[in-house]
Amino acid sequence: MKNDNLFDLTGKVAVVTGGGDGIGRGACEILAAAGAAVVVSDISLEKAQTVADGITAAGGKSAAVACNVLVSADLDRLIECTVSTFGTVNILVNNAGLGGGGRENPYKIDRAYVERIYAINVFAPWQLSKLVAPYMEKSGYGSIINITSMSSINNSPDMAIYGSSKAALNHLASNLAFDYGPMGIRINNVGPGATRTKALASVLTPEIEAKMLAHTPIHRLGEVSDIAGAVLYFASPVSAWVSGQTLMVNGGGVQTLD
Ligand SMILES: NC(=O)c1ccc[n+]([C@@H]2O[C@H](COP(=O)([O-])OP(=O)(O)OC[C@H]3O[C@@H](n4cnc5c(N)ncnc54)[C@H](O)[C@@H]3O)[C@@H](O)[C@H]2O)c1
Repeated sequence: MKNDNLFDLTGKVAVVTGGGDGIGRGACEILAAAGAAVVVSDISLEKAQTVADGITAAGGKSAAVACNVLVSADLDRLIECTVSTFGTVNILVNNAGLGGGGRENPYKIDRAYVERIYAINVFAPWQLSKLVAPYMEKSGYGSIINITSMSSINNSPDMAIYGSSKAALNHLASNLAFDYGPMGIRINNVGPGATRTKALASVLTPEIEAKMLAHTPIHRLGEVSDIAGAVLYFASPVSAWVSGQTLMVNGGGVQTLD
């Protein structure tokens, strides 16, 4: 294989959840730039459509699908739409995720909150992985990428539900790698440190940022493009013998909120 083909996704079909903004948008755009047809899905069809239109305007192939990953029937429909539009699925990015932000004081949240966070961060990636696997196996190329978090390995106050759900996502992938490997499917996790998106902006203050940077050797917060690069690595043939792994993209350090 020539070096310039290692990141080539021409002819591959990708699906990204929460692709209308932030890290999901970055994933959609980098996969499309590498040649994949990209289904941009988001709870907001308007946001998904904007990203898909941008990809199409840049000469790529894309379609937008409304999908709330908390709704099981939406997940079924997302994969049906992808297959009916582009014929198969080769790459799945389980990006949509919620929780944390230092807002999980155990006495201020209830069971419904916990179920919701686990539903978006664990149950949806599990269900989508199950749905896409037969198509990936049949097509001969499959890569599933979960967007986890540094919170999956950090220990911090008021983060137990988000952190444990993302830890479950890590372990889900390292186990599913054994189930899916024989089907020709790889499954890996990308774990962002603090990355400049709207979700981060909702909790970031100058004081918190200064504390984060004190423990970040590459002395800046993450950008969406930093995370998208790791997604492209796992999506493309360059990582053909890599599965069940979690790659933390964090400037070499730890950015907790406390
Ligand atoms: N930004 C960070 O610092 C950071 C750090 C670690 C992990 N992460 C993880 O990265 C992922 C993306 O985070 P982000 O910062 O880009 O978020 P973001 O808020 O910038 O974008 C999230 C996107 O997901 C969509 N969305 C929200 N709920 C949804 C649902 N139920 N179904 C489908 N789409 C939905 C939103 O409309 C939005 O387009 C999440 O899994 C998050 O846990 C982010």
